[in-house]
Amino acid sequence: MSNETKLRWGILGAARINQQLMPAIVEAHNSELVAIASRRSGAAAETLVKYAPEQQNVQIYDDPNALLDNPDIQAVYNPLSNHEHAEWTLRAIKKGKHVLCEKPMALTVADIEAIEAAASEHNVTVMEGFMYRYHPQHARVKAIIDSGLIGKVRSVRACFSFMMQPARMYRLADDIDHGGGAMWDIGCYAIHAARLPFFDELPLSVTAMAKYTKTGADISSSGIMDFGDGRYAQFDFSFERARRAEYEVIGTLGGLKCHNVWAKQAETPVISWWTEDGKGEQERLPVANHFGLEVEHFSDCALNGKPTGLPLADAKNNCRIIVAALQSAAQGQRKQLS
Ligand SMILES: NC(=O)c1ccc[n+]([C@@H]2O[C@H](COP(=O)([O-])OP(=O)(O)OC[C@H]3O[C@@H](n4cnc5c(N)ncnc54)[C@H](OP(=O)(O)O)[C@@H]3O)[C@@H](O)[C@H]2O)c1
Repeated sequence: MSNETKLRWGILGAARINQQLMPAIVEAHNSELVAIASRRSGAAAETLVKYAPEQQNVQIYDDPNALLDNPDIQAVYNPLSNHEHAEWTLRAIKKGKHVLCEKPMALTVADIEAIEAAASEHNVTVMEGFMYRYHPQHARVKAIIDSGLIGKVRSVRACFSFMMQPARMYRLADDIDHGGGAMWDIGCYAIHAARLPFFDELPLSVTAMAKYTKTGADISSSGIMDFGDGRYAQFDFSFERARRAEYEVIGTLGGLKCHNVWAKQAETPVISWWTEDGKGEQERLPVANHFGLEVEHFSDCALNGKPTGLPLADAKNNCRIIVAALQSAAQGQRKQLS
């Protein structure tokens, strides 16, 4: 057990998502916000005033490299744009920092392999920021499945969609190779949620289809992963459909549904289940803040040398599937993975 009780954090960019992560770091019992950087003049200070106005003595940097040079910072949160994640995560690791990197960790498996090798060499903790996994509702889903209530899992369907506001359409300005489009933004969640903890292995193959914008970004997509023996996991995501954030799991004896996969702090999580012999229930669970739980978990792992709940092997598998799904949609072909 480490003697240090609080992990000292720096934030690498003044991204919008700091609205969630900055208070989470400030409020976590085992974390301390030490610094924030932004390459845009005034943006880091503005973010701090907006999302953590009570915080004193937080250092402001106009260069993320200078933040990484500060030996007082033990861990960084990387919320930069998708195509910058791998580069800045590697830079941070090489400066001996633990890194919580926003999803997707990288746009290629090779980049995650490089991150994994560097993390091992520098003995630091690195995790992809799939915050939703830290919401207790998913542990409840796992407990229901582990109890045998719905039998053996045979299929999963995960959906994530909403009408993208015009102001946010810049996410579609870049093509897929540069981190733009719905797959890298929300499809990575749908694929992740359709896999874990139901099928914690690489699928045999993936088949997908997509609609594209003129800039070469995907805006809607749907696909299916084949885990063998008739076990299929479907994913479906879109920036031009009504809001859905759910997954459904069908087993040999019944099924269950998680109604709000990305339940926010104030939203009551709801899980419903049913069995073929007529039992069923809709469970309303206590509210929880998955961002806060994610930060506390990461700090605990980094301070005490514990493995995280989302190992880099999982980040590599998710990336492999995403890349194959993107190729499948572009080429109109099923892609073999194992
Ligand atoms: N876990 C979640 O719930 C969640 C939710 C949303 C997004 N995300 C992920 O978090 C990451 C950041 O997403 P976001 O929507 O918060 O990103 P964003 O606001 O677009 O910011 C991303 C980066 O771009 C730069 N930037 C921001 N506004 C800019 C502007 N007006 N002009 C030029 N550069 C600007 C910032 O770097 P500088 O400060 O250095 O300029 C910032 O760190 C993405 O990887 C995304 O996938 C996660």
